Amino acid sequence: MTKSNKSLIIDHEGPFKGKKLKCIFTEEQIQKRVKELALEISQDLKNAKQPPILIGVLNGSLFFMADLMRAMNIESEMDFIKISSYHHTSSTGTVRLVKDISAQITDRDVLIVEDIVDTGLSINFLRNRMQSNSPHSLSVVTFLYKKEISQLKKEPEYIGFVIPNYYVVGYGLDLDQKYRTLRGIYAIVDEKE
Ligand code: IMP
Repeated sequence: MTKSNKSLIIDHEGPFKGKKLKCIFTEEQIQKRVKELALEISQDLKNAKQPPILIGVLNGSLFFMADLMRAMNIESEMDFIKISSYHHTSSTGTVRLVKDISAQITDRDVLIVEDIVDTGLSINFLRNRMQSNSPHSLSVVTFLYKKEISQLKKEPEYIGFVIPNYYVVGYGLDLDQKYRTLRGIYAIVDEKE
């Protein structure tokens, strides 16, 4: 599949071969929502003593993090964490830390920036891990939220869009490392849909 190809049929081997990518959010819709989230977050954190630290969850949050941070109207700092819980297209049920943050977050205002919440395991893990370093405040923004299947202990403070239980790609989200650079969000659906 090429980025400009409007038929968007998955042509590589795997369980989704022959299925179709259906756009559920366009680039314009995404950018509008990111700006709204950025303003809401800026408003909530504008009185922080020091700039808040945004912690992007690699790899999927890369583009969301970049857009969000630049759309905020207060200063902020960035760091990244990498965890692994997904194998191909399903959760393994356990979370493994692959790369830790380097920032000192004690007494700082911390915002975890996630691309998508699915089972919620990753966010539960990240909240616990960050909380153990006693930040001044801790909140979570996720661009997408599969609310109906998540088993979150605490919902994200900021949510871009709630979506049904589709596997989605684009805007940083991948299928075995493919489709990350699509500018919209695409759900993988049967060809009839
Ligand atoms: P959770 O721990 O089950 O909430 O899964 C979160 C992580 O799984 C995300 O950060 C993604 O890396 C991956 N993931 C879950 N659902 C999708 C999807 O629909 N598309 C691409 N990646 C996904």
